[in-house]
Amino acid sequence: MTLSADDQKKAAAAAAMDHVRDGMKLGLGTGSTAKHFVDFIGAKVAGGWKLLCVPTSEATRTQAASLNIPLTTLDETPELDLTVDGADELDADLTLIKGGGGALLREKMVAASSARMIVIADGSKKVARLGAFPLPIEVVTFGAKATMRKIEKAAAGAGAKGQLSFRMKNGAQFVTDNGNYIIDGAFGMIPDAKKLALALEATPGVVDHGLFIGLADLAILGAPDGVVIVKA
Ligand code: 5RP
Repeated sequence: MTLSADDQKKAAAAAAMDHVRDGMKLGLGTGSTAKHFVDFIGAKVAGGWKLLCVPTSEATRTQAASLNIPLTTLDETPELDLTVDGADELDADLTLIKGGGGALLREKMVAASSARMIVIADGSKKVARLGAFPLPIEVVTFGAKATMRKIEKAAAGAGAKGQLSFRMKNGAQFVTDNGNYIIDGAFGMIPDAKKLALALEATPGVVDHGLFIGLADLAILGAPDGVVIVKA
């Protein structure tokens, strides 16, 4: 029997539960894989576990609240034990591209506030080289087109060339939970993730980008017949 992509996501989320203990403070990721994890967390809470969680998006907050998962904020709880989140791409070093769901800023802030980050994903997310998935870049709305031009130059200087486009949703520009726009960079391949990250971070108007470098400790990937573990 081979697992479908969604069953692989669920299997990875279930395996991540082996790392969760009663009493932990957790970061809850965003996306279809993280949604399975939040369901499992909800079941533990229903069974009496005392967990305290920071959601990485309004969508996850809504799901978690519907499951009666106790929620907190980074301001109230700045140090978390573990964040479990999905990814759009990951390489052998556990450098990630995230933000397919537009939640990259809160996802990065929550992961960076956690002692450990575990990535859960279906097996298709593991790649030899990052960049086939367009890199999400969150920008402030003020001067967003001018920022896009600056990003193009900055990225080219880091060896990443490709089409940049504003993310759209239902015919309108997509707006993040933080009130910003997302520019997707279809670079095809990213030759040097660190160099690109530094170039983007030095670009005025860029709030953050979906490259997660040195944040993930472990990845649990669904495979056709179970899960595979990748360590950083
Ligand atoms: C949201 C994310 C998600 O983790 C990423 O898009 C993966 O989503 P999915 O689990 O649905 O494949 O970064 O901003």
